[in-house]
Amino acid sequence: MTDDFLTRLPKAELHLHIEGTLEPELMFALAERNGVSLPYADIEAARQAYDFSDLQSFLDLYYQGMSVLVRARDFEDLAMDYFRRAAAEGVVHIEMHVDPQAHLSRGVALSEVMEGLTAACAKARSELDISTAMILAFLRDQPAADAMQLLEDSTPWHDHFSAVGLDSAERGNPPSKFQEVFARARELGLERVAHAGEEGPPSYIREALDELQVCRIDHGVRAIEDVELMERLADEGTVLTVCPLSNVRLKVVERLEDHGLPTLIDAGLVVTINSDDPAYFGGGMRDNFAACQRAFGWSNETLKWLAGNAIEAAFMDEERRQALR
Ligand code: HPA
Ligand code: ZN
Repeated sequence: MTDDFLTRLPKAELHLHIEGTLEPELMFALAERNGVSLPYADIEAARQAYDFSDLQSFLDLYYQGMSVLVRARDFEDLAMDYFRRAAAEGVVHIEMHVDPQAHLSRGVALSEVMEGLTAACAKARSELDISTAMILAFLRDQPAADAMQLLEDSTPWHDHFSAVGLDSAERGNPPSKFQEVFARARELGLERVAHAGEEGPPSYIREALDELQVCRIDHGVRAIEDVELMERLADEGTVLTVCPLSNVRLKVVERLEDHGLPTLIDAGLVVTINSDDPAYFGGGMRDNFAACQRAFGWSNETLKWLAGNAIEAAFMDEERRQALR
């Protein structure tokens, strides 16, 4: 473990898709264990295929990759593999989106997913001193009725979820499509977050706030196109979970130097730094912080402030928060 400032900085990760932590090494090992065939000749060929033109081109490989996850043990291994890497980078808290619909559609039961992930979360706490939270994510390119069905069918697992979320292909799937589902989640006492303004327009960010009543916006970087929206986000203290390396790899921005992060910070928004799908986007939490430090010349004070924002915004009990401050 390197013992530098960025590694030692206690980092909380608020925007991570656990299925997006599947490194090619584990993908091949699980493919062998489960007799699943992969479209890659070897591990290197898989990495080479991770050359994306937009969100959809990534999602195609992301859903393909998770075909190796079948039994509870696979999900446990997936999460533990990531938690160990994260611990070595100085990550102290992880909130993971889980995409049950991407497993149910392959005939993998929710109980397999949740038994594996909850076992890993318990080990993260006891063996690695990492606290965790789970976010039940709905695939926005699937019908809202399917999301509602999942919300009801996942009732036995609701205690394990801090929030519901909204991910997958954004364009053409506005937040308003899921208004009823999110209203029901609210009734059930679940917090709400949503991806908005990654590829979708600033109006999707407004919809997520007004119609889904989210407490955080995942990505939200296209808010820079709308000054009034930025003012509102700043006034309301809405947290953005920004994923710098993801935005570069999915061509939301061409180069990190062109990213709107400094503009968002100057406008007074509460931003956080996150990894999104580290196995696909070329780096974990430490790499995301380091890339921003290089691109924007941020001071240690700014980096500390960003890490602190995530700890303040995290779904964790106050005792844990106090311990991490
Ligand atoms: N955006 C939207 N949906 C996703 C992503 C992402 O970056 N990763 C996994 N599902
Ligand atoms: Zn995401």
